[in-house]
Amino acid sequence: MYRILLVCLGNICRSPMAEAVFHDVLVRRGLASMLQVDSAAIGRSHLKEKPDRRAIACALRHGYRHIEQIRSRQVRAQDFLECDLILAMDESVLRALQRQCPQDAQHKLDLFLRFAGHDGSLDVPDPYYGSPEGFVKVMGLCEAGVTAIVKRLELERPVRAGD
Ligand code: 4NP
Repeated sequence: MYRILLVCLGNICRSPMAEAVFHDVLVRRGLASMLQVDSAAIGRSHLKEKPDRRAIACALRHGYRHIEQIRSRQVRAQDFLECDLILAMDESVLRALQRQCPQDAQHKLDLFLRFAGHDGSLDVPDPYYGSPEGFVKVMGLCEAGVTAIVKRLELERPVRAGD
């Protein structure tokens, strides 16, 4: 089982939206038993909360029902041991992860959009203090990123049952 962790500041907007897209894409493509995806926060201000209602509404409009199962949690030391890939939604989150992560696990860290091979800005913009359109923009970046990452992982590491 290959484990991916998606991380943002609050784990109520960007990383749960990316997790919901990832989870539902894996289920639809029959890859859910080989790749496991989870999400977490750097901060602790929304622990155990559901995703932001605007994030839930946006994800449901796009057909990603897994968003309703997610509750915010903080990154823990065990994540650096257990996960194969830890992807930050923006540069400031990546820097925070780099400070917490043991030396021998630093190679697991990257930006979500950089790992996806995205052109242009590599930060998924924080939509929390913005308008509903910010969530639509985040959703587009999550869908593009997840599609590219699944393709990349299938090419680099053909995923097989039992992995
Ligand atoms: P997220 O968005 O990191 O995408 O979950 C935010 C959520 C909460 C806050 C900031 C960003 N906050 O300041 O409480």
